[in-house]
Amino acid sequence: MRKVITYGVFDLFHHGHSNLLKHAKELGDYLIVGVTTDQYAYHRGKYCLVDSLEKRLQNVRSCPYVDEVILEDHDGQKSEDIGKYGISIFAIGDDWLGKFDFLKASCQVVYLKRTPGISSTQLRGIRYPHLSMGLIGCGRIAERFLQEAGYVRDVQVTSLYHPAPDTSESVMRFLSRHTSIPKVRSLDKLFDQVDAVYIASP
Ligand code: CTP
Repeated sequence: MRKVITYGVFDLFHHGHSNLLKHAKELGDYLIVGVTTDQYAYHRGKYCLVDSLEKRLQNVRSCPYVDEVILEDHDGQKSEDIGKYGISIFAIGDDWLGKFDFLKASCQVVYLKRTPGISSTQLRGIRYPHLSMGLIGCGRIAERFLQEAGYVRDVQVTSLYHPAPDTSESVMRFLSRHTSIPKVRSLDKLFDQVDAVYIASP
């Protein structure tokens, strides 16, 4: 029996996921799917999941191509699972192209074509439009706020206002670190562009 394994978060289960699972199953006789736990997703920088782990497991289990579901919760597990479950083929979407070549020493690695035009990120964006936030100030408080905002699904910091000129050291340092956050020239301009502001200044 040729056992195939694949992994994913499978948040807001969509037809891209079911296509991937269908094509993975077609590679062999038995398909095992590793579903990422919440903690492991956070560890890898995904803080924005909508579905609970139970819901994500349930969705993957209900998919007709899936024979067995396991949890993925630590680095290095993929290599361990290949031995543990006697895996012949590791399959994953081609957004990961080349990233799992190191597994070729233990089994066949197949990158499957991703279904275009759909992703969990896109669905999360439709369900939960971002609150666009402006920052006033660009010092240590602003840096801390930006870090925290990264943990919140619905918030995106989109502009900065600071009274100092663009050539001041603190402004230049901030702009070079956060290239996607442009500095606007006036407070009125900032208020025109955002839904809310965070005043990161004493
Ligand atoms: N996948 C796919 N086609 C899509 C979306 C996902 O083939 N349109 C595949 C991925 O390549 C991966 C598996 O489905 O092998 C699980 O992907 P996952 O990261 O859970 O889904 P995404 O929709 O890519 O999630 P996100 O937008 O959060 O990255």
